[in-house]
Amino acid sequence: MTVESEYRVMTNGLEGIVAASTRLSEVDGERGRLTIAGYAVEDLAPRASFEEVAYLLLHGRLPDATEQRTFAHQLRERRTLPPVIITVLERAAAAGAPAIDALRMATPLLSLGHAEEPLNDAIRLIGSFPTIVGTYGRLSRGEPSVPVRADLSHAAHYLHQLRGSVPSSEQVRALETYLNTVCDHGLNASTFTARVIASTRSDVISAVTGAVGALKGPLHGGAPGPALDMVFEISRADRAEAVIRAKLDRGERIMGFGHRVYRVRDPRAEVLAQAAERFYSKDGDRNLYELVRAVEATALRLLHAYKPERRIATNVEFYTALLLHGLGLPTDLFTATFAVGRVAGWSAHCLEQLREGRLIRPQSEYVGPSGLHYEQQLPNGALTPPASARAGA
Ligand code: COA
Repeated sequence: MTVESEYRVMTNGLEGIVAASTRLSEVDGERGRLTIAGYAVEDLAPRASFEEVAYLLLHGRLPDATEQRTFAHQLRERRTLPPVIITVLERAAAAGAPAIDALRMATPLLSLGHAEEPLNDAIRLIGSFPTIVGTYGRLSRGEPSVPVRADLSHAAHYLHQLRGSVPSSEQVRALETYLNTVCDHGLNASTFTARVIASTRSDVISAVTGAVGALKGPLHGGAPGPALDMVFEISRADRAEAVIRAKLDRGERIMGFGHRVYRVRDPRAEVLAQAAERFYSKDGDRNLYELVRAVEATALRLLHAYKPERRIATNVEFYTALLLHGLGLPTDLFTATFAVGRVAGWSAHCLEQLREGRLIRPQSEYVGPSGLHYEQQLPNGALTPPASARAGA
């Protein structure tokens, strides 16, 4: 709904409103393109290291070899968690908290004992998120955490924290491609949240804590699990047509398809589809991969038949599910793993906002009552007359 007055425009959900300028990423929904700090996601994500991409977001350009080594070292130095965070993660695991809640509880503690410094805070967040999520993944399954290894790359370190073994180079490349693909995506809800908090000149760790809270909501971070559930429900390629038809006949959404902004393809889905193709040709359950491809083809055909006027394509969540499952991640860690990648974008948006932005302070349209008069309730139950009546008495 859009309401226009002489001075104001009101759009429910801020759809179509440009609320910030950014050099970090451009989402072109009509043409199906995602550009990350100048680079097409298809070019950058499958080949760059996560350390390079995080540096690119924080500094606006790719690092040279020396800068890359220094930055990787800075991230590694921040891997080890303070004991208070381990305690919180243990408590959260004992209480059966979802991983994204555990991450939201642990994140603000990263500021304890450190003076606020935006870039330093950003590096601490990026460097420690894999340890937080990986450790929680183990604790929540009743397994002991594993010591941090300083000799592994960022992505390898995350898988090691989670599984307790050193991953293969194919597994690391697959995860790195995923983290790079989701590192930033315009002014989505969690990034906007982070920018609003940073716009008050609050600190980066507070802003990213808020962003984690925003990501928790199922409208933002929650579809890859259900997409995979649907594939398991279908279980055999020859059942795809019947199961998907039944869902569409019941008016259900097919998880992993359609997007609010992308009207053609979701470029991230293509990057992850290719990453999954490469990964499952060497590792993982090839039958599952073939099943997923068959489900995708059937879903696209039926969505086109049922909604011919819509352009519904595969979205990022569909292949996220396949890739993360192949890497051995349980579905309850998918959203928190997304945060391990997106924290680079959140942090970079905070730095940009602190550098260039103004306080974000939109207005609201008041739709409540007016002209009511306050009457104070006395101990005996009587009501005092309104101030206007008393003034006239
Ligand atoms: N399955 C079935 N129908 C779908 C659909 C899907 N995945 N995505 C959109 N549609 C249909 C809607 O039913 C609606 O049909 P109608 O006009 O006949 O009622 C029409 O397309 C438009 O729906 P709308 O919600 O306005 O589209 P949108 O583009 O704003 O919605 C999503 C975007 C993401 C909310 C939607 O595509 C969806 O629910 N997808 C499944 C969940 C998912 O994968 N989410 C992760 C997104 S990254």
